[in-house]
Amino acid sequence: MATILTLTANPMIDYLTTGRIVADSVNRLGHFTPLAGGKGLNMGRVLARHGHRVIATGFAGGTEGDLLADLTAADGMEPAFITTAARTRMGFITIDPERGGCTSVLEHGSPVTTAELGTMMQQMRAMVSEADLVLIGGSVPHDTCNGLYRQVLDICALEKVTCWVDAYGAVMDEALIGANPPAFAKPNKEEYGKGRRWLPCRELHLSDGGNELKIRHPEGRFRVKPPKIKTINPVGSGDCYVAALAHARLSGMTLIDQLRYAAAAGAANAARVDIARISPADIRAIIDQVDVTPVKE
Ligand SMILES: Nc1ncnc2c1ncn2[C@@H]1O[C@H](COP(=O)(O)OP(=O)(O)OP(=O)(O)O)[C@@H](O)[C@H]1O
Ligand SMILES: [Mg+2]
Repeated sequence: MATILTLTANPMIDYLTTGRIVADSVNRLGHFTPLAGGKGLNMGRVLARHGHRVIATGFAGGTEGDLLADLTAADGMEPAFITTAARTRMGFITIDPERGGCTSVLEHGSPVTTAELGTMMQQMRAMVSEADLVLIGGSVPHDTCNGLYRQVLDICALEKVTCWVDAYGAVMDEALIGANPPAFAKPNKEEYGKGRRWLPCRELHLSDGGNELKIRHPEGRFRVKPPKIKTINPVGSGDCYVAALAHARLSGMTLIDQLRYAAAAGAANAARVDIARISPADIRAIIDQVDVTPVKE
């Protein structure tokens, strides 16, 4: 069992339901299930389900922030959020299991204060050395936080703790040009954009939903074909991929088996309504369908 510290700077309470939404009309749907939402929390949920100790930090405030901490704990993680004056944002997502479509409506994050950012850095300096791996996931609540991931990467480098970042936009660009770029990133096709800016990453996994992944690793390049499944809700599949890869690596699997485990985890998530609630058994059930091919350089 390893200790993993996750950072979700812009978490939310994700209200999940099923049913089809029709615009410009009243939509009556089933119960809304609140979920601790955000990439770091999705990754943490999967890792906790693999028996790891997960410490979950981020910014959280208001009654929604209290609920976020409760949901995080109920998912088997240790909540360690920095309290903000601004309340935690909310999101709404409905899945149409018949058509496999998914509609979501999300609030923007609210700015955090300079003092709150300072408390986050203090906490990171105190906690990073406890972790075997730091996982940063998702957006930041406001442009004033665009240096946050770069600063956390610097702390991780100082403490010699590996840090993976699954993010995009300005906060990721800053992280990539910093003195200590992320050891690993997993952009999807859209986030990858023009490509060159990802070069500082030691290891890059470029994903594209159900299509082939392209992997650049110090041991070589690989193409990975995920299992064929009926897609229900792909939200969080990237997070499941990263969490499963982390588990596979921390448990000493070979690189090829790590890639197979990760791709199967993403697919297992996409085949379900809920988000990042997959178990090791769900992954094992389809792992044989993953194809990994080394690519000649
Ligand atoms: N429809 C699908 N069929 C099979 N596998 C899938 C499907 N969607 C996702 N996966 C698996 O999950 C991995 C990550 O998916 P994807 O490229 O959608 O990530 P993402 O866009 O980063 O997702 P998110 O950011 O919502 O977590 C894929 O590489 C694949 O292994
Ligand atoms: Mg992603």
